[in-house]
Amino acid sequence: MRSHYCAEISKDEIGKVVEICGWVNSYRDHGGVIFIDLRDKSGLVQLVCDPKDNKNAYDIANSVRNEFVLKARGKVRARGEGLVNPKLKSGEIEVVADEIIIENKSKPLPFVIGDENVGEEIRLKYRFLDLRNEDAYNRFKMRSKAAIAARNALDRMGFLEVETPILTRATPEGARDYLVPSRVYPGDFYALPQSPQLFKQLLMCSGFDRYFQIAKCFRDEDLRADRQPEFTQIDIEMSFNTQEDVMNVGEEVLKDIFAACGHEIKTPFRRMEYKDAMENYGSDKPDLRYELPLVDVADLFARCNNAIFTNIAKDTKKNRIKALRVPGGDTIFSKRQMQRFEEYVRKFGAKGLAFIQVKEDGLKGPLVKFFDDDKAALDELSQRLNLEVGDVVFFGAGAKKIVLDYMGRFRIFLANELGLIDENRLEFLWVVNFPMFEQNDDGSYSAMHHPFTMPNNVDEEDLEDITSIAYDVVLNGVELGGGSIRIHKEEIQEKVFKLLKIEPDEQREKFGFLLDALSFGAPPHGGIAIGFDRLMMLVTKSASIRDVIAFPKTQKAQCPLTKAPSTVSSEQLRELGLRLREKEGK
Ligand code: AMO
Repeated sequence: MRSHYCAEISKDEIGKVVEICGWVNSYRDHGGVIFIDLRDKSGLVQLVCDPKDNKNAYDIANSVRNEFVLKARGKVRARGEGLVNPKLKSGEIEVVADEIIIENKSKPLPFVIGDENVGEEIRLKYRFLDLRNEDAYNRFKMRSKAAIAARNALDRMGFLEVETPILTRATPEGARDYLVPSRVYPGDFYALPQSPQLFKQLLMCSGFDRYFQIAKCFRDEDLRADRQPEFTQIDIEMSFNTQEDVMNVGEEVLKDIFAACGHEIKTPFRRMEYKDAMENYGSDKPDLRYELPLVDVADLFARCNNAIFTNIAKDTKKNRIKALRVPGGDTIFSKRQMQRFEEYVRKFGAKGLAFIQVKEDGLKGPLVKFFDDDKAALDELSQRLNLEVGDVVFFGAGAKKIVLDYMGRFRIFLANELGLIDENRLEFLWVVNFPMFEQNDDGSYSAMHHPFTMPNNVDEEDLEDITSIAYDVVLNGVELGGGSIRIHKEEIQEKVFKLLKIEPDEQREKFGFLLDALSFGAPPHGGIAIGFDRLMMLVTKSASIRDVIAFPKTQKAQCPLTKAPSTVSSEQLRELGLRLREKEGK
């Protein structure tokens, strides 16, 4: 049907007849000659329709509208002097039409393609039009290249690609499950996998040794700019390995993916203990493109004469007092800005935001007077923070979890305010030695990664002191992936279930197949999963994960295009043995 893609016609084709197909990107009538910019996936080419050259082609060109689908034939010629368009790949030539066929018409579009001011709901409703532009195409081209690079890297390292079930049982990764009712067993449900976690472990028990999958995962959770209910992981598992081996494989895969997308990255990545990430950056996924560290100053505030601060400083297990120095901040921030900062941290549980300014004649601010009896403490503060005239130091004080959270967020907020973020930098980081458990608001405990993670010290009395062989890979403050060495012994797995208050009956009922597998000679094993959509969002510098997913859901977990989720007929419900409570009420 065609001899060339539009934008691939160059000076080399001058004098040749070409056949091209595509959409009318725009058309202009210039004194009786019609110019059509014809577009396909490669870009644009200019089609010239002059009644003097071919009356028939001209008449057809006269009836086209934007987004009509054309097939055209014509001779390539050099553009006239001064008419070369350096912005177009094919800008040096044009095609003189001698035949145009309208393959299809188009109604006027609901929005201008590529117009970024169009609301997302309408763009997703007509996603097939929204994707009809070069930037979108290039993002998906990169995604495809990245997937192929990952496959090739893993294949080279001896990993076998295996598909695991989508209709399965719940796999606990901390979110709610999407459920699928069974018709054959009314009242029973399949769950869509939150990840292939247990299947990949079973494949290690089968002796497959090295597995991978570019796997769809499903999680019913609150959506954000970097979360979707349905997303893709590069899921990896290996046997007889250490954490180090998994990290090497992870780095190798990421190196090849970035290379395929035109970026050279340096390995090995930096490492940081979970504890240090939390204490110094208030986050388990610190953005290291800028510094602004949080510095512990509880010991100094223990010496002041303000009862609130000294009380907080006394309990260093439960509480924290953290200082955040902003070099030159005193000369940059207005009073109004300082107020906004306080409003910001209050949203995350701060009771206030104390600060000290470094003036020519010493430290100033409401806190300073509480050190009247121990001025040496202030000197130590200056030294510890390397304070200089013009700086401002913010303080967060209170319960550890709350202070680390809001000071960590405030650090990012300030980096944005101060324009400290270099968008071209790629700062990778491994965060290691995660706690095994975390406490929920109701006092109960959950596994921080998942309950199949190998603990370092499972017999520790305080659950919060148990750490695990778990690691996350972070890029520019975004959690790209997570993994762990797994429990491969039945008795340790049972112990962890018990600590999570999963009683033996429930253990057998939910995870009997895993416990069985562990009891029949399970090898030591471990792996990782890299969030592929998140990765592509960062590689393509997209604002949202939705930009790199062909047919994403909205923030409200809907698809405006297909209108999923949707109601189903009462007949279908009956067949599944289901009845809707709300409907009954009505
Ligand atoms: P985890 O739950 O950390 O680990 O998931 C791995 C990575 O998947 C990505 N991710 C998401 N991406 C988009 N939308 C979501 N809703 C979403 N949830 C997670 C993140 C995350 O780092 N089974 C373990 C892996 C293992 O232990 O091997 C797991 O799924 O980038």
